[in-house]
Amino acid sequence: MISYDNPQLILLNAQELEPGAIRWSSPSNLAIVKYWGKHGRQLPRNPSVSLTLDAASTDTTLRYSPRDTPGKGIALDFYFDGAPREDFARKVVAFLESLLPVFPFLEQLSLRIDTNNTFPHSAGIASSASAMSALALGLCSLEDELFGTLGEDEEFHQKASYLARLGSGSACRSIYAHAAIWGETPDASGSSDLYGTPFGHEMHPVFHTFHDDILFISKAEKSVSSRAGHGLMEGNIYADSRYEQARRRLRHLLDAMRRGDVEAFGAIAEAEALTLHALMMTSTPPYLLLEPNTLSAIRAVQTFRQETGHPLYFSLDAGPNLHLLYPAEVAYAVQPFVQEVLLPFCTDGQYLPDAVGEGPVQLEVEEIEED
Ligand code: PMV
Repeated sequence: MISYDNPQLILLNAQELEPGAIRWSSPSNLAIVKYWGKHGRQLPRNPSVSLTLDAASTDTTLRYSPRDTPGKGIALDFYFDGAPREDFARKVVAFLESLLPVFPFLEQLSLRIDTNNTFPHSAGIASSASAMSALALGLCSLEDELFGTLGEDEEFHQKASYLARLGSGSACRSIYAHAAIWGETPDASGSSDLYGTPFGHEMHPVFHTFHDDILFISKAEKSVSSRAGHGLMEGNIYADSRYEQARRRLRHLLDAMRRGDVEAFGAIAEAEALTLHALMMTSTPPYLLLEPNTLSAIRAVQTFRQETGHPLYFSLDAGPNLHLLYPAEVAYAVQPFVQEVLLPFCTDGQYLPDAVGEGPVQLEVEEIEED
């Protein structure tokens, strides 16, 4: 079992350290075969594969300076959309404290995090994948800046993915461009339960052109969190057969993605979306995150596909918002359909046109605007 614990990462002359800053933008991702159910410290019950998004992302700047008086624990100022957010700050502090065995030097620093999402705030899009991957990348860059210990690209990405996983399981897949696998499977060499691995380079070119537009059916906060949903899988009577099904579907899906079989891909994507919500409906207690407009939009997508023959498919995350999956070559037909038929199902007619993206990027740090 790999461990990133490293008590040697201590600054010998912390007080002489120049203040600095690191900024990463990291995208969200959409699982096609879903991870739903976990054990141990954020380990998946089944392997999953996702498309890395482009527009839906989190931009995080991590500033550091020597801590005035050496202390225990994490010293952090946290800003979301330019304003302090105590609830988020508490979660981030708890996460960073859990990482002290990996990054003991964090106790020697004063930290400030400024973060914001590119998608509308509280739009019901899970932001944990983009947020946790951006933070994990920032921490790995910080380690490399202070100690020069993470030179190789592969080593850097693997550690960032491992740490992102500890923050939010699905976040470990956001580290890679185009597509990523998380969870050990005989169908992808190098795959691991501990971190995501890239799959984009094995994927047929047609999937590199894929759009993933997100319809905001409801912006209300979820009634049951993903954390609680994963927990309820432990008592779900379908759990074992679900994990078996996910493994089987992953095998077929990876094969379809390698061959460029869009139809097989779409069939599995839709089956997985409905299975995820069926698992919620068969938990104890059962719960429902779909809205009437989610079902209306699904019906409209199915009718459009039957009538036009165009490969437009849907997927869902753990919420009511619908993802529209289609290759670029049919965008000319799908986009007017979205505008005319699907936007009336969205809250305030809002949606986010998105697509398969190039993965996280490190950006120039901006000055803090003092008011
Ligand atoms: O990473 P978490 O704990 O927020 O769980 C994500 C679960 C799904 O988004 C529903 C599926 C997945 O594989 O991303």
